[in-house]
Amino acid sequence: MDKLIIEGGVRLDGEIRIAGAKNSALPIMAATLLAKSRVVIRNLPHLFDITTMLELLGCMGVQPIVDEKLNVEIDSSTIHSFSAPYELVKTMRASILVLGPLLARYGQAEVALPGGCAIGSRPVDLHINALRSMGADIRVEDGYVRAKVDGRLRGAHLFMDMVTVTGTENVMMAASLAVGKTVIENAAKEPEVIDLAECLIAMGAQIEGHGSDTIVIEGVAELTGCTYSVMPDRIETGTYLIAAAATCGRIKVKDTRPDILEAVLLKLEQAGADIEVGENWIELEMGGRRPQAVSLRTAPYPAFPTDMQAQFTALNTIAMGSGSITETVFENRFMHVHEMSRMGARIKVEGNTVFVDGVDALKGAPVMATDLRASASLIIAGLVAKSQTKVDRIYHIDRGYECIEEKLQLLGAKIRRVPA
Ligand code: EPZ
Repeated sequence: MDKLIIEGGVRLDGEIRIAGAKNSALPIMAATLLAKSRVVIRNLPHLFDITTMLELLGCMGVQPIVDEKLNVEIDSSTIHSFSAPYELVKTMRASILVLGPLLARYGQAEVALPGGCAIGSRPVDLHINALRSMGADIRVEDGYVRAKVDGRLRGAHLFMDMVTVTGTENVMMAASLAVGKTVIENAAKEPEVIDLAECLIAMGAQIEGHGSDTIVIEGVAELTGCTYSVMPDRIETGTYLIAAAATCGRIKVKDTRPDILEAVLLKLEQAGADIEVGENWIELEMGGRRPQAVSLRTAPYPAFPTDMQAQFTALNTIAMGSGSITETVFENRFMHVHEMSRMGARIKVEGNTVFVDGVDALKGAPVMATDLRASASLIIAGLVAKSQTKVDRIYHIDRGYECIEEKLQLLGAKIRRVPA
């Protein structure tokens, strides 16, 4: 497995462009299964997870056409299988997103249970319960979700017990072709949910309330193809902003959206960053100052995103003062803490809170990535450490960060990839 070698202690300084959002691209690619004609998706990021979703569609008989800019044309009319095999699902939990579309368009689906992952058990019971309420007969057996419905799904008034991003997305896609009206209460408000809804509306779906906690979908008989451009990745944006702040540097991120990062920008300002924003760019300047430690609590959008908790923990390890970070979304998203303590961080976990006392410097060390965002936080720790850090198992990184070492090199970082 490839490794990343980082010689830390360099202040990041430069400009990068942000790619399309992974967590918007994945549900939109699944939504192409709903359309009777071809869908063209633009601004897809070059990521392993995107390739996995293309493979998943391919194994169902849907042959995407990819152009040189990685714009993808998907015509699902060639589908011949409604099964998502474990070999693919085990590498990407988001495969569960084909369940709703397959049920709604073809009346059947067989999707391997994603299973747990490094950050928690991550069940899909809320997806299943909601689809059952819409008339689906769903059995969970032999590690598979086997679903079918006679005729079409029926609209229902649903109350999601927990805010679930892909659960909301699965139901919204299924409801688009159901008979009648579906109301999703306690819906996820993430920008990626809004992006999916806008794409479904471009296909002819009737959806209102997306972005609020109550989404209303009036089912239609069919959905047609469209051309849709995926929104910028707010998590990639935040990750690079935090990396620049942690290294006391400066960065301008372009092709992004500041309006969907308000909680993160506020925390970066509390850490001492000067931030300026434009319509599609954000500029962060530390002026050589060491960041101040910040405290925060993750929660569903618009609160501080769980996907940036590990990155802020890395910033706190070398900040001035002490900070506490509480994780309320996942039950085990502190896998990076042990690795950071091996780099000299003064860090401890109590319950669902990580407490950090900032130190003047970290020491580089060989560390191991466990999940996508923990990997990014270890790279940030390596960037600020005063010696060499080797990050192993970086396939996690390649799932969610496009050309990460090239973008960091553009910012002046001494980072290189070495094959295992
Ligand atoms: C999405 O995962 C994102 N992935 C995650 O990003 C993100 O961390 C998460 O939302 C929270 O924002 C994609 O969009 C592809 P949830 P998802 O359902 O939908 C529990 C990344 O790094 N739950 O909102 O799987 C669940 O266990 C990834 O890009 C149930 O109990 O997350 C968790 O504790 C990591 N039963 C909480 O709800 C269910 O049926 C929120 O999970 C569904 C969820």
